[in-house]
Amino acid sequence: MQDFSIAPNGEEYPLPTEQESKDELTRIKEITEQQRAKGRTIVAVQGMGFVGCVMAAVVADATDEQGEPLYFVHGQQRASLRSYWKVPIINKGIPPVSSSDKEVPEIFRRTVKDKQTLRATWLNYAYEVADIVVVDIQLDATKPAFGDAAQGYCDLSAFRDGMRTLGKHIQPECMILVETTVPPGTCEHVVKPIIEKEFKKRGIDTEKYPPLIAHSYERVMPGANYVSSIRNFWRVFSGVNQKSKDIARQFLSNILDTENYPLTELGSTNASELSKVMENSYRATNIALTLEWAKCAEKIGVDLHKVRAAIRKRKGTHDNLLRPSLGVGGYCLTKDPVLANWAMDAIFELDQELPIAINSVDVNDTMPLHTIELIKEEFDDLKDLKIAVLGVSYLENLADTRHSPSETLIKFLNEEWALVKAHDPYVEYWPEMENVTIQKTLPDTLAEADVVIFAVGHDEYIELDPIEVVDMIGKETLIVDCSNFLTDDKIKQYLEAGCKVKGVGKGHIEKM
Ligand SMILES: NC(=O)c1ccc[n+]([C@@H]2O[C@H](COP(=O)([O-])OP(=O)(O)OC[C@H]3O[C@@H](n4cnc5c(N)ncnc54)[C@H](O)[C@@H]3O)[C@@H](O)[C@H]2O)c1
Repeated sequence: MQDFSIAPNGEEYPLPTEQESKDELTRIKEITEQQRAKGRTIVAVQGMGFVGCVMAAVVADATDEQGEPLYFVHGQQRASLRSYWKVPIINKGIPPVSSSDKEVPEIFRRTVKDKQTLRATWLNYAYEVADIVVVDIQLDATKPAFGDAAQGYCDLSAFRDGMRTLGKHIQPECMILVETTVPPGTCEHVVKPIIEKEFKKRGIDTEKYPPLIAHSYERVMPGANYVSSIRNFWRVFSGVNQKSKDIARQFLSNILDTENYPLTELGSTNASELSKVMENSYRATNIALTLEWAKCAEKIGVDLHKVRAAIRKRKGTHDNLLRPSLGVGGYCLTKDPVLANWAMDAIFELDQELPIAINSVDVNDTMPLHTIELIKEEFDDLKDLKIAVLGVSYLENLADTRHSPSETLIKFLNEEWALVKAHDPYVEYWPEMENVTIQKTLPDTLAEADVVIFAVGHDEYIELDPIEVVDMIGKETLIVDCSNFLTDDKIKQYLEAGCKVKGVGKGHIEKM
C-alpha cells in the first residue's frame, strides 16, 4: 500500500516510488545541465518551510542588469509523510504557505511557471549539483517545564543529520549558507567538523578544500510583507574563512536590495549567530516588559496602550516599545533566548547564563494565564462556561499557529472544564491542537457565549460592530480584549448593551 502525504487543503500526494526517484535524478541532471549552459549558478535550498520556500523563490527571481536570471534553484524537501506534499505543490507554481502577502503566490507563479528557475525535489542529488546550498531547516529548543525556560535545551541531532547529508553530497567548493537560527558557535563547532569529517571520508583534501560555510540569519516576517521582508531588508552575515565571507557577500548582494539595505559583515560566524539570538531576545524582553507593566496598569486604572503611545513619541530611543497582548507566540521569540542560554554551557562550556532573556521567555509563555485570571474576576468556576476564542494564530492576519498563545490559553481553559469554541479566519485546521475544531462562522462561535475573548487582532475582528456581535451572542456577556482592538467607543457600546468588558493592560475600563 502506498503512503500519502496530506496537504493542509486535504489533497493527498503519494510518496515517490523507487522508479520515480530514478526518473527524478535524471530530470535534475538534465535541468542542471540546461541551466548551466545558460550561465546560471545552481543553488539548492534545504527545507521548504516558512523561510526556505520563499527564500528559494527570492533567489530564483534574482536577475542580472539585463534582466536575465542569475540562479536556478532546487528547493529540497525531505520526502516525509508530513511534508512531502510541498514538492508537488511548489512544482505546480503554488506556494506551500498561506499568507496575506499577494506577492507570495505571484513570485511562485513567476519563478516556477514563467521563468522556470525554481523547482522542488525530494532528492539529495540536488546538493551534488549545487554551487551554493542555503540551509533553512528548523532547529527547535525544548522547554521541558512550562514557565521555566532555564531548563530549556536544544537537541541538535536532526540538524546534525541535515549537515551530514550535505557533507556526503556537496562538491568540495560548494558554499553552505546557514540561515537556520542556531545556537551561537554552531557553524564553527558543529557544522564545520561534520563537513570536514564527511569530506575526509570521501577522500577530499580539507587542507586544499577547507569547507566553505557562512551564516546569515533571516529576519523574514511571514505577514503582509512576507517577500519584501526577505528581499528588502538589512542582512547580517559572516563566514568561517575569508572565501566563505566573499561568496556570501556576492550571493546576498545579487539576491537582495543591498543598495537600499546594505549588508553588515561581522567578524565571525559566532558573532553573526549571536546577533540573531540577541536580536530576538531583545524583542522578547521588550514585550515581557510591557506585559509586566500591563498587569500593574490594570490594577491602577490606567490604559497601558495609551501610555505606550505616549512613550513611543520619544523617537529614536523609545519608539519601538512593543505592545502587551494575550502572550507571545511564533517559532522564534519563544525559543531563541533558550538557544543562546543553552549554547553558553553546551557549546562554549562556560558558566555563563542569560537570566534577563530567559526570564522574558517565562513571562511571555505564562502570559495567557493572565487572561484566565481576568475571566476569574467575574466567574468563580469556569466549568461548563461557554468561551469563544477569536483568533488562534500567533499573530494578526496570518495563519501560523506555532506556539500560539491561544494554544496555552485553550489548554488551561480545558483543564478547568470550560466549553471552548475557537474561530480564526486564517486557520482551517490547527495542527498543534488537533482536538480543537475551528468553527466555520462567527455566529456559530459566538452563539450563547458567556465569555468572548478577542485573542488575536485580525482585521476581520477589528472591523466587527459591537451591536452585531452582541446580536450574534444573543445575551449579555463578558468581553475580553487581549490585543487592544476595542476602541473606547466600542467598549462603551458593549457596556451600554449590558456586557462587561476587560482588557489586557486596559485598567481604565473600570472607570468607564
Ligand atoms: N518562520 C519565521 O518567521 C522565521 C523568521 C526568521 C528565522 N527563522 C528561522 O528559520 C529556520 C527555519 O524556520 P521555518 O519557519 O522555515 O521552519 P519550518 O519548520 O517551517 O521549515 C523547515 C522545513 O525544513 C524541512 N526539513 C527539515 N530537515 C530537513 C532536511 N534534513 N532536509 C530537507 N528538509 C528538511 C522540514 O520538513 C520543513 O519543511 C528556523 O531556524 C527559524 O528559527 C524563522
